[in-house]
Amino acid sequence: DATLLFCFFLIIQTITFPALRCNCSTAECEKTGSQCETDGACMASTSFIDGREQHIRLCITRDNLVPPGQPFYCLSAKGLLNIHCCYTNYCNNIDLKVPSGECFILMPPLLSCGSWGPVELVAVIAGPLFLLCLLLLMGAFLYQYHQRAYSHRQRLEVEDPSCDTLYMTKDRTLQDLIYDLSTSGSGSGLPLFVQRTVARTIVLQEIIGKGRFGEVWRGRWRGGDVAVKIFSSREERSWFREAEIYQTIMLRHENILGFIAADNKDNGTWTQLWLVSDYHEHGSLFDYLNRYSVNIEGMIKLALSAASGLAHLHMEILGTQGKPGIAHRDLKSKNILVKKNCTCAIADLGLAVRHDSATDTIDIAPNQRVGTKRYMAPEVLDETINMRHFDSFKCADIYALGLVYWEITRRCNSGGIHEEYQLPYYDLVPSDPTIEEMRKLVCDQKLRPNIPNWWQSYEALRVMGKIMRECWYANGAARLTALRIKKSLSQLSIEEDLKV
Ligand SMILES: Nc1ncnc2c1ncn2[C@@H]1O[C@H](COP(=O)(O)OP(=O)(O)O)[C@@H](O)[C@H]1O
Ligand SMILES: [Mg+2]
Repeated sequence: DATLLFCFFLIIQTITFPALRCNCSTAECEKTGSQCETDGACMASTSFIDGREQHIRLCITRDNLVPPGQPFYCLSAKGLLNIHCCYTNYCNNIDLKVPSGECFILMPPLLSCGSWGPVELVAVIAGPLFLLCLLLLMGAFLYQYHQRAYSHRQRLEVEDPSCDTLYMTKDRTLQDLIYDLSTSGSGSGLPLFVQRTVARTIVLQEIIGKGRFGEVWRGRWRGGDVAVKIFSSREERSWFREAEIYQTIMLRHENILGFIAADNKDNGTWTQLWLVSDYHEHGSLFDYLNRYSVNIEGMIKLALSAASGLAHLHMEILGTQGKPGIAHRDLKSKNILVKKNCTCAIADLGLAVRHDSATDTIDIAPNQRVGTKRYMAPEVLDETINMRHFDSFKCADIYALGLVYWEITRRCNSGGIHEEYQLPYYDLVPSDPTIEEMRKLVCDQKLRPNIPNWWQSYEALRVMGKIMRECWYANGAARLTALRIKKSLSQLSIEEDLKV
């Protein structure tokens, strides 16, 4: 706008006053009476050079008035030079003030006082103010955020049970934790967030077993050993199912493997599926019997504890804190662990099924013939098992328990005699028998593992032999129940005067 106005002024001036007269102080103007004429502008300037004031007046030609609106010739210079241009006759007959040095000293060179327009002034005042406001706002926001986070933390510590620091205090062992939670609460194990916390602070040590679905490791947690069963990501369903079964309400029992935690940890590439349980250094009953023979007391202890575990698994407990009946479906010496006190803990519940007695149904669609062929009951081998009837599965477990008893009893050292460890039917089928081989043997030929005559000479061995036969009936319904076996063996242990 200023440029336009200036141009307009110049045009008017050229039309109306073709020559502008100005005062002139230069040497050339002495002849013309200290005056000059121009088509441009009159100029007066005061400068401060070498400590002396100098006043100059002169004419500026129009072609020197560049750029339009703010010609260089008319610009004052930062505390040194004060210039005034004007466009009426003798208008430069004025005394300009000496440029003050103050601004030059105080202000940065670019902001010379004399040349500040309204925009600069607004910028100079409003800029710092704006910055100040911004800082204040940021301060207020940070303070509020901090306050909110703090009060949230406070609330968490007071109310929220999901804050696992409540449970995970340093000096508590897993056993304490699980004991507290199973006696006070649902009886089905640790809360999920505690399971996750435990699982993620385990340090794996060594492989201790390999099974159907992956590897079993010994791990360390807070100075104690735990077992970690690691499933491959393809086996997610098996992992989930086993974790689900272990967390059946009221399942915990001294002769069932103590479950600690399930965790699915996504490491970005694949999902690691963990089941954490108590660690038993003796390993499986299969490993134990291979390594050691047992005396009568040891045999009864193993057999009775296995029966107790299975009886608890099979048993339905009624009421709100009750448990459903559970059938194992893969009972064998490799799926039973031996604890430090030489009693058994039933493990590997991955194939188990639960009975819903209210509707008389089984909690998953039971697939045909799962489990280990060598331990399959005759009705499973020939597929005559009534899968709609839950008790059929319990009876099949009892057949397998009978085979496990045979494995234990062979290793019993009585009168200085014991046999080497062997799998059931070791002498009748090859190492990885087919279902057909097993069916011919068990269903068609009705063969069972051999019960030696000399067992009759020892009461404990005789009782064990009798129990086995009653576990092996072709008719599942005729077999003993786990509870019945438990009672017979308890009786035997009293007769043998054992502190079992
Ligand atoms: N808690 C444990 N303590 C010690 N050894 C174990 C434990 N759990 C499993 N094992 C070992 O690992 C083997 C395989 O474990 P298991 O649970 O049967 O897995 P799978 O379902 O793959 O058969 C067992 O036979 C046993 O030797
Ligand atoms: Mg197994």
